Amino acid sequence: MVKSGRSFWFFAHRGASGHEPENTLRSVRRALAMGAPWVEVDVLAVDGEAVVIHDEYLERTTNGKGPVSAGPLSYLRSLDAGMGEPIPLLGEVLECVAGRAGVNVEIKGPDAAAPTARVLGDYLEKGRLGPEEVIVSSFHHDILRRFHLLLPAVKTGLLFGGQPRRLGTLSRQTGAFSVHMNHRLCHAGIVERVRREGLKLFVYTVNNEEDLKRVLALGVDGVFSDYPELLPLAKRLFRP
Ligand code: G3P
Ligand code: MG
Repeated sequence: MVKSGRSFWFFAHRGASGHEPENTLRSVRRALAMGAPWVEVDVLAVDGEAVVIHDEYLERTTNGKGPVSAGPLSYLRSLDAGMGEPIPLLGEVLECVAGRAGVNVEIKGPDAAAPTARVLGDYLEKGRLGPEEVIVSSFHHDILRRFHLLLPAVKTGLLFGGQPRRLGTLSRQTGAFSVHMNHRLCHAGIVERVRREGLKLFVYTVNNEEDLKRVLALGVDGVFSDYPELLPLAKRLFRP
């Protein structure tokens, strides 16, 4: 179902977060219903569990207060992450997507590599997810390296907030499959450099037609978007 090679990759960013509360099961289900082939979620560790939430603090996306890492998990699970949705565990997201779409797990915190590897490893072992249906990424390349040592079968993505650097070294250390960067910083030179390293280039967060056309003309391999309704246009414009 999920293809690799010079095909187009579309990631519903934090689920269909343009329509539903980000990083909730509701948002993941909406992305699947809209035909997204991949869903991206963010993960932090709480009490040794991989929990799906973007920020280090609870205030922006929930009715809770304080640092996510302070937990306890029971408190976090009692909160409203929007429209009455709880903060999901990574396992619940995998349960939703397994057999229906691929999943990109973005590890946000240092303690999250081990629980993420444990939960994903379990799904892979049971055959609920194939290794080609998972990408684990992080802005923290040391965390990605740690994850890669724990679960080398899973593809990894090097995330950059600025210009991608040290691609050769970093991709060797992390076994990287792809580079993920801000679409606004993307230009022809980077596309060429990433391709030369044998990596895919995915850009975030592309939320309108104008930006989509620009990055596809540059030759990126895929996009992250809050709006899965952009998928049909992206497929039409993509030149393999
Ligand atoms: O993984 C792509 C994108 O999600 C990275 O940035 O801040 O939205 O997690 P952010
Ligand atoms: Mg993310």
